[in-house]
Amino acid sequence: MKILTIGNGSREHSIVESLAISNIEPVIFNIGSLINPGILELCEKSGGKVVRSDPNDPKKVVEIAESISPDFAIIGPEEPQFHGVPDALLDAGIATVGATANCSMIERSKAWMRRLMFKYKIVGRLRFKSFTSVEEAIAYINAYAESIVLKPARQSGGKGVRVISDLQEYLKKEKRAVKEKHAKYLIEKHMKPYSDIDDKILIEEKVSGTEYTLQCFSDGHSVIPTPLVQDNKPAFDGDLGPETGGMGCCSYRDTLPFITKEEVDDSLKIIKQSVDAIQKETDEKYKGIIAGQMMLTSLWGPTLIEFYSRFGDPEGVNVLPIMKTDFVEVCEAIISEKLNKIKIEFEDQATVVKAIAPRGYPDYRDLAKGHPISVDLKLLEKYGVRPYYGSIDVVNGSWITGGSRSIELFAKRDTIEEANEATERCIPAAKLLDGHQLFHRSDIGSKERLLVEADKANLAREIYLYRKEHNLIGRKVDWIPLRGKIEYKG
Ligand code: GLY
Repeated sequence: MKILTIGNGSREHSIVESLAISNIEPVIFNIGSLINPGILELCEKSGGKVVRSDPNDPKKVVEIAESISPDFAIIGPEEPQFHGVPDALLDAGIATVGATANCSMIERSKAWMRRLMFKYKIVGRLRFKSFTSVEEAIAYINAYAESIVLKPARQSGGKGVRVISDLQEYLKKEKRAVKEKHAKYLIEKHMKPYSDIDDKILIEEKVSGTEYTLQCFSDGHSVIPTPLVQDNKPAFDGDLGPETGGMGCCSYRDTLPFITKEEVDDSLKIIKQSVDAIQKETDEKYKGIIAGQMMLTSLWGPTLIEFYSRFGDPEGVNVLPIMKTDFVEVCEAIISEKLNKIKIEFEDQATVVKAIAPRGYPDYRDLAKGHPISVDLKLLEKYGVRPYYGSIDVVNGSWITGGSRSIELFAKRDTIEEANEATERCIPAAKLLDGHQLFHRSDIGSKERLLVEADKANLAREIYLYRKEHNLIGRKVDWIPLRGKIEYKG
């Protein structure tokens, strides 16, 4: 069997590894813009190869795929989906695991996703307004918006989102200036490279609570969950610094220590209803991976913040290495629409994944790029920690950093704290050979951090359960000066 994989990050390294350990012993190929050393080793060992090419270019991908003639392809990142790579592969007669361009609108366009949730009355939806011009956005900010989230309307590597609390009357003017400046920046600069959706920015109601990601397999009929994972996006300890693609994640068996089984079930319901809605809207089957990036809020309980039409990165690196079911079998079940015929099982373990990135990431990628990097595999072996290589390019035999996260370290243990300790011991394994520095987050998976998340969850839970009991779930009451009480029921 031949399998073609698309994408060259840590998530794709773990996808390729899960395929490589299959009993079917497939020959694996990869297309990526960088030559990932982990993917290279696994592909070559299987008898396949890695081809450096643009994974977002459907024509180039199909050309390479046709020369390989794989039994199926699997798409790792979102951009190839947005560019129609799965559609082009399917048109060329190559079975593909990965959302089509239309289905991946659930991630590409945040306004499309929100409209869908309102149209189909899916619970856990947030009020929003979308804008195409700076003037309209600023007029709205001046007229109504209080505490808000300003977002680019398109998925753009998780960047550009700004949460602005606006509670103190004496700071209103300053807060308004910040909102206006960011709205202008998003529309005039951030969204400039993207012409594939009409909306430019979203202003969303601000909610707070603990966040988690539920990643699922979908074959167009069944939606099967994987263990719950918590990602941490700010660059530095204590949730400080700019937003990244994710600096590390933890998981704890089916759920997280601070999320209940009922909350996982309710989150899965939201994802299932959304898959049904996507299929109705697009008239296409959703065959691939879908992930809900959720928050436990006092407004709804499980609340949808964003969707991913793929595994998260690092989130996918938490779940794939502990999947007991043969991944090739899972992919085949997705393709043949028979997910209900197999049992997808995971090891009964806690996991921690920590990303290590060169200084400069995420805002100054040129600084983070071009550094020779080495990894002490003996140290990793000593602690039973596994490396998943990310933004590293093999150039003439040397490993050179790209501008993003270089490595993700994975550990599984009985508890999150133990897995955290194992990854922490292995951080020194990665070194830049020119003296430039690497950084990571030491707090992810620590006992203190888990207690903070539990506090956030308990606070939200107490209120949303009260709302539920009193039939107030999803309801919000706004007081607008000179207009009085406006009750909103989404
Ligand atoms: N970890 C967040 C993402 O995959 O976008």
